[in-house]
Amino acid sequence: MACTCVVGLQWGDEAKGKIVDLLTEQHDFVVRYNGGANAGHTVVSGGKTYKFSLLPTGVLRPHLCSVIANGVVVNPVRFFEEVKQLREAGVAIGENLIVSNHAHVIFPYHAEEERLSEGGEQAIGTTGRGIGPCYQDKAGRICGVRVGELLYPDHLRARLRAIVARKNKLLRALSAEAKQFDADALTDEYLKYAEGMRPHIRDTVHLLHKALADGKRILFEAAQGSLLDVDHGTYPYVTSSNSSTTGVWSGSGVPTRNLERVIGVIKAYTTRVGRGPFPTELNDGPDGVGEKIRKTGREYGTVTGRPRRCGWFDAVAARYTARLSGTDELAVMLLDVLSDLDEISICTSYEIDGSRIEDFPTDAFLLERCRPVYETMPGWRQPIEARKVGDLPAAARRYVDRLSALLGLPVGIVSVGPDREQTIFCG
Ligand code: IMP
Repeated sequence: MACTCVVGLQWGDEAKGKIVDLLTEQHDFVVRYNGGANAGHTVVSGGKTYKFSLLPTGVLRPHLCSVIANGVVVNPVRFFEEVKQLREAGVAIGENLIVSNHAHVIFPYHAEEERLSEGGEQAIGTTGRGIGPCYQDKAGRICGVRVGELLYPDHLRARLRAIVARKNKLLRALSAEAKQFDADALTDEYLKYAEGMRPHIRDTVHLLHKALADGKRILFEAAQGSLLDVDHGTYPYVTSSNSSTTGVWSGSGVPTRNLERVIGVIKAYTTRVGRGPFPTELNDGPDGVGEKIRKTGREYGTVTGRPRRCGWFDAVAARYTARLSGTDELAVMLLDVLSDLDEISICTSYEIDGSRIEDFPTDAFLLERCRPVYETMPGWRQPIEARKVGDLPAAARRYVDRLSALLGLPVGIVSVGPDREQTIFCG
């Protein structure tokens, strides 16, 4: 039963990669269960910085089996790029990396469909990686292709001939300038990827069930944050998968009752990339706190390089996602980023249409009308060198304790810098 899930409780980029990396030694498998190459995980290990978007961060530890499970959408081009980058950096990747035969495949027409759909008023502000259109095809069934199908050349060619003919029509209907695709050329290209991927492709549901039966320890690594969950996030400004722990079961085939420990990862403040309501956003200009957080926290997207929107910690939102994801304990990240502030605010409730509410409204059109109600605490105005919770500056400790009280959960880990050593384990 020794399964752990590391899940983000905000809009992604909570520095989950660092927590996963810290926990890998206690696990035998690391499993990604949602999303695709839209995710951005940065891990600093042994003085080197590694950036991941599709592969589980577990691949840094070759003793582990790293699994891209069925709930993920796989772009083979990105898969090989990332494998190559990691190998060049000296990371051994072989049979320790497994891809589910039931993960869906991203094709170039998915990115084109997204590009044509994201232009107008209703844009979501996506990463442009074809994630949404690929999940649409998965749910729509007619055009979805799974990784395992890449291994059957005749079958793949027939499927792509039918799919590409349909896609070309749909794309043209979206724009007369739309790119058009050649089914045979695409088949030939993807058959080459299939050969490279063949040694990695497995039925991961059986693999994980066997691992459980053998008493192996599995670490689930969520991509994005729970507020971007397609069912439970700030719809429609969400990603297209279940990025909360709700995705573990469907996205890997492992029943969530096996989760013994859910670590909810939060930043000490809030960020968001892309469009959508963000009640605590700080739009206070080039000399304001929002810009200060962005600069100090290097808040630029790992995948797209976009500047992240920055704001105060939103306890209304995080309390909701902590419950949604069945969180047992919190990991508070990037506390050091707030070190230079005189005062720090926390949003504890919202005001909407003259009423005070404490339950997070997930409908974007309602959340847009919410105004944050803040409580303010003094900052600590000194760098954090502490490696024990007792050594934190008193104001920093009070801030962490307040987050814990507002979310009703213990804090297990406080991160005060990107390096492994800059981590406080709270006993
Ligand atoms: P998509 O996942 O590319 O479809 O984008 C949908 C929304 O999710 C956009 O607002 C993206 O900026 C956001 N998003 C997707 N992946 C991440 C991530 O890893 N971190 C933060 N935001 C993300």
